[in-house]
Amino acid sequence: MNIAVLGAQWGDEGKGKLVDLLTPHFSTVARYQGGHNAGHTVFVAGTKFVLRLIPSGILHPDTICVLGNGVVIDPAALFAEIEQLEALGILVEGRLVISNRAHLILPYHRELDVLSEAKRGARKIGTTSRGIGPAYSDKVARRGIRVGDLGDVASSAALEDAVRENVEARNRLIGESHMDWHAVLDGLRQAWARMRPWVRDVSVYLAEARRAGHSVLYEGAQGTMLDIDHGTYPYVTSSNGTVGGVCTGLGVPPRAIDGVLGVTKAYTTRVGDGPFPSELLDATGERLRAAGHEFGAVTGRPRRCGWFDAVVVRHAVRINGLDAVALTKLDVLDGFPEIPVCVGYRAGDRRIDEFPGELGLLASCSPILETMPGWTTPTAGVRRFEDLPAEARAYIARIEQLIGVPAAIVSTGSDRDDTIVRGDSVVAGWLGGRG
Ligand code: IMP
Repeated sequence: MNIAVLGAQWGDEGKGKLVDLLTPHFSTVARYQGGHNAGHTVFVAGTKFVLRLIPSGILHPDTICVLGNGVVIDPAALFAEIEQLEALGILVEGRLVISNRAHLILPYHRELDVLSEAKRGARKIGTTSRGIGPAYSDKVARRGIRVGDLGDVASSAALEDAVRENVEARNRLIGESHMDWHAVLDGLRQAWARMRPWVRDVSVYLAEARRAGHSVLYEGAQGTMLDIDHGTYPYVTSSNGTVGGVCTGLGVPPRAIDGVLGVTKAYTTRVGDGPFPSELLDATGERLRAAGHEFGAVTGRPRRCGWFDAVVVRHAVRINGLDAVALTKLDVLDGFPEIPVCVGYRAGDRRIDEFPGELGLLASCSPILETMPGWTTPTAGVRRFEDLPAEARAYIARIEQLIGVPAAIVSTGSDRDDTIVRGDSVVAGWLGGRG
């Protein structure tokens, strides 16, 4: 069984916790896009881990973690994360596989990211300033430098030329920047010396793993609404976090994806700028932020909060062919007397049920809210579905009806064990064993 786990909203849905929970049933966890802009927070026995680039599967000692060709890698960030994990007693060496086709984030990408945001002024994207967009821009412009280029002895002169040309062009673009291309090249050579044992053709590696009967979990970063094609463009990240990214970002065929699990919060958050129809700009939004500890895992920025938006999650269900969702942070809604749900949008006298592709139309949309009763007994830490208050079960049932797929998993707290996997669900079937 090879399963994709990806975000059904604007990221931060709790994918890290879900991947961590599911990992014991998989031999390999493979990331297919994004870079160290991702921030997966996982709590294990009360200890908090924030993973940025390395898949959350790393917390389980027998799992191999893969970074696919669709990922962009900042070697300094990778090494820093490895050191942090090893300081906490998690061995990374020998468990990491990196695609020779993955593109590198170079020092000038970070500078360009910050500069481009400053230039956009009020129209800024609100990026994580990690150089993600400029690295993907270079990839698409066919001037990027890939991990495998660093070890390609036959074309070491070509690497030197590419680094010199890229750095010099960026120096001209940035104006006051005088980055030394020799230093950049030296840094890359040092990075290669360390990365070399981990670098493979990931498509071949995963095909062999599948042939040997191993199961692979494909881990998405960010979320459907931050997807470069299907999200709220241009307020998106620069890669495909939706399911198509699994094929292009790892070199696996569609038939190597046996199931897709979407992760969604029981409400909605977004960090960064851009449209957010069900956003709450009042004290209720602040209450959600405080109760859900909604501050960015990577940047610490406060997340924008709002009610559950069924239009958004339906969009994610359709694009990704979700078999089911994992509904996270239900406990954050504990104590709210009423819980509105966004069931559609209104723009002028039109009702809109499918997420619009046009920013202008989106800006004119207001949410159509349906109010569900809240619950008085807390859901926090509840570990059996039947122990949830009746109103919470009704809330989940209404969401399932609105999005058209079941909530196979319900998460009621940050700990690994605060999770309900519904026995009759498709996910319970997937978790039959370890491949
Ligand atoms: P970038 O990926 O740094 O270019 O940022 C583009 C947009 O994606 C910004 O709105 C970021 O806040 C958002 N973003 C990137 N990574 C994440 C994530 O892991 N969680 C939530 N938002 C993210």
